[in-house]
Amino acid sequence: MSHRRALRTRIRAAGLAGLALLLAACGDTRQDIFTPEGSYARKINNLQVPVFVIAGLVGVAVAVGIAVVLIQGHRRARDDDEDPRQLEGNFKLEIGWTIGPAVLLAGVAVATVATLFAIEDNPADADQAMEITVYGHQWWWGYEYELDGDTANGAEIVTANDLVIPAGVPVTVNITSRDVIHSFWIPALNGTRDAVPGRIHTLNLEADEPGIFDGQCKEFCGLSHANMQQRVVALDEADFADWLDQQQEDQPMLAVGEEGAEGEPGAAGQQSFIGRCSQCHQINGLEDEEGEPIVVEGDAALVNGYAPNLTHLMSRGVYAGGLFELYDENGELDRDTLEAWLRDAPAEKPMYTEPESGDPRGMPNLGLSEREIDDLIDYLQTLGDPPPLQTPTED
Ligand code: CUA
Repeated sequence: MSHRRALRTRIRAAGLAGLALLLAACGDTRQDIFTPEGSYARKINNLQVPVFVIAGLVGVAVAVGIAVVLIQGHRRARDDDEDPRQLEGNFKLEIGWTIGPAVLLAGVAVATVATLFAIEDNPADADQAMEITVYGHQWWWGYEYELDGDTANGAEIVTANDLVIPAGVPVTVNITSRDVIHSFWIPALNGTRDAVPGRIHTLNLEADEPGIFDGQCKEFCGLSHANMQQRVVALDEADFADWLDQQQEDQPMLAVGEEGAEGEPGAAGQQSFIGRCSQCHQINGLEDEEGEPIVVEGDAALVNGYAPNLTHLMSRGVYAGGLFELYDENGELDRDTLEAWLRDAPAEKPMYTEPESGDPRGMPNLGLSEREIDDLIDYLQTLGDPPPLQTPTED
């Protein structure tokens, strides 16, 4: 194959690959930065679209200019062997291509700074009584709602993966981390904010309408960084008030049957949970044999910040750091996936669970029997009402 033909083939292949990428990007994706669904994201979009257009036009103009010069020079070199006329400086041109870009960039800078201030602006009408703190963990997001203004008694609501907010009102969240640096990002609602241990970064979120908005941890945070997802679930006023009430309820202790009797549905799994899971996972309301509450030691009912509080597990749409859906498209529990997770979590999501690693992270393979897995799922199904909104199906 001649050199030129090989080059042409390569250019064509690159063009096709680029086209495929472009088409893939046009799909119906739920993390699209060009589809704002709230006021803050809209402010960002109103800035980025004109900037992209201007940058695109400048890019095309420069590329066309270079192509013209290249082709002309090539032709001249072929047609006549004399050196081209030598030029030395062109005052007007030089001033033009210095001032032009400077003016353009100054305009972009002014608009950018104005947008930065606009999205940082703490909403005046936000519900000041409710403080939501977002915690990054390897590899899931925890959310704690301070409702009574008294931080001494701990957060009233501790949940994970689904950050539930009221729709149509701006909400400010405080973002931090319990281990390494993560980054919280819901593209449809606002830009990103790093979750840094020992620091609080605030982020404003507002969703126009009730809905579910997906995000992805945006800072490399170890083995399962790519599997660290998050969602914002925006509810209308009535649903949100219900959700707040429900999340503050403890779970009742299920009565275990006497010798040989069945007990309440889920009771066997409750005992398995106390024996096998409660060293890491808190369920508010669980009691030990003496009737004392089983409270996981550590900050906000977390062992070393490893494991989410499961009190209202069934009210969430996803688990395992947002990696798996709890319900299928018919709104039924996706039991097979949950069984696989309980059977061997590290096989479903890469984690450092070996104690030899010195600083284990993630849910280990507990070697549960099939019977225990069945019982546990029966019990987990008693933990809270189903979520008010179903995950939108991708089409
Ligand atoms: Cu957390 Cu990447």
